[in-house]
Amino acid sequence: TPVEVLLSKRVQEMVLSGNGDPLGPYICEKDRDYGEEEESTENNSPIPFIDIGKLCAKENDQELKKLKLALSTWGCFQAIDHGIPSSFLDKVREVGREFFGQSMEEKNKCAKKVAEFQGYGADPVPEDGQSLDWSDRIFLALAPKDQRNYTFWPQNPISFKEVLEEYTENMKRFTEIVSKSMAKSVNLEEGCFLKQFGERSQLHGRFNYYSPCKRPDLVLGMKAHSDGSGYTVLLQDETGLQILKQGKWYTVPNDANALLVIMGDQMEIMSNGIFTSPVHRVVSDSRRDRISVAVFYTPEVGKEIGPEEGLIDSEKPRLFKMVKDYADIHYGYYQRGMRSLHTVQLQ
Ligand code: SIN
Ligand code: FE2
Repeated sequence: TPVEVLLSKRVQEMVLSGNGDPLGPYICEKDRDYGEEEESTENNSPIPFIDIGKLCAKENDQELKKLKLALSTWGCFQAIDHGIPSSFLDKVREVGREFFGQSMEEKNKCAKKVAEFQGYGADPVPEDGQSLDWSDRIFLALAPKDQRNYTFWPQNPISFKEVLEEYTENMKRFTEIVSKSMAKSVNLEEGCFLKQFGERSQLHGRFNYYSPCKRPDLVLGMKAHSDGSGYTVLLQDETGLQILKQGKWYTVPNDANALLVIMGDQMEIMSNGIFTSPVHRVVSDSRRDRISVAVFYTPEVGKEIGPEEGLIDSEKPRLFKMVKDYADIHYGYYQRGMRSLHTVQLQ
C-alpha cells in the first residue's frame, strides 16, 4: 500500500476494522534501538518532581536548585501543586477521549487540509523514508487568540471548545510561572525568558490518540525526537512516553495530577545549553489505548531568539546562533528522529 494511501487512513480506523497488524510503512525496528530500556516502575521513577507552590513561595532556593538540576540533567520534570484542579485535568483528558471515540465521519469534520498543519489527521509523509507513527492526532493553534482557526475545532463533544479554551488560559498562567522560575534558577532576572518569547508568544495544542497494536515490538506511537518548541507541557492518561538519558530509555509514570514539562530545542538555545531538550518517544501497547495532550509554548512569529547574554562568559562560550521561527523551520522534526539542534550550533 503506498504511503499516501495509508496517510489518508487513520491508525484507529485500521485497528477498529480488525487490521491491528502493522503494515510495512509503520514498521520501525531500526528506530527503536537508540538506547537500552531501563527498568523503572511507577513507584521508583527517577524523573524529578518539582513543586510549583514551593517555587512561588518566598523561601524558594531549594526548589530553584532542584529545578535547575532537573532541567540540566533530564530536561524535563513532573510539575505538581500547580494549582490546576485535578478534576479539570480529567475533563481535558476526557474531551480528548470523547473526540477520538466518535465516528470517522464526525472526526473528519476537523480533517486537516493538505497544506495545513492544523486539524485532525496524521503528520506529513516523512521525507527520508522513515516509518509512520502508530497514532492519530488533532493539532490546533490556541494562542494568540487571533491565530485560532475554529473551523478545525471539534464541535463534538459539545464541551470541547470551552474546556480547551479554559485549559489555554491555565497554560498561559502556568508557562509564565515556569518561565520566570527557570530564569531565577540560573540567576537571571525573572522576565528574561518571557521577553524572548515575546508579547505574542504562541501556544499550540496537540491531542494524540495511541491505538493498541498487536505487535508493539514493531512500531512506535511516536518516533524518537526532541521538541522544536520553547518547551512543552504534557498531560497523559496512561504510560507510554519514554525519555532518553545517557543512552537509556526511562518510562514517565502516569501521575494523574502532574503535568510533565519537557524542554524544547529553543529553551536549550536560550539557556546556552544549560537546559537540555531531551529525546523522547512513545511506545505502543498491545492491549490498551492512550491519550495525551501536548501544549507547545513557542516564541512569537518572526522573533529572533538566542542564548541569554548573562549565560555567556569565557568559561561558557556562546553555543548557538540567533534563530527565528525555529519550530517552523523544523516542522518535520518529529519525523526525522533525534535532534535538529546541530543546525544552529556554533563550532
Ligand atoms: C510528544 O512527544 O509530543 C507526545 C508525547 C506523548 O504523547 O506522551
Ligand atoms: Fe515531543
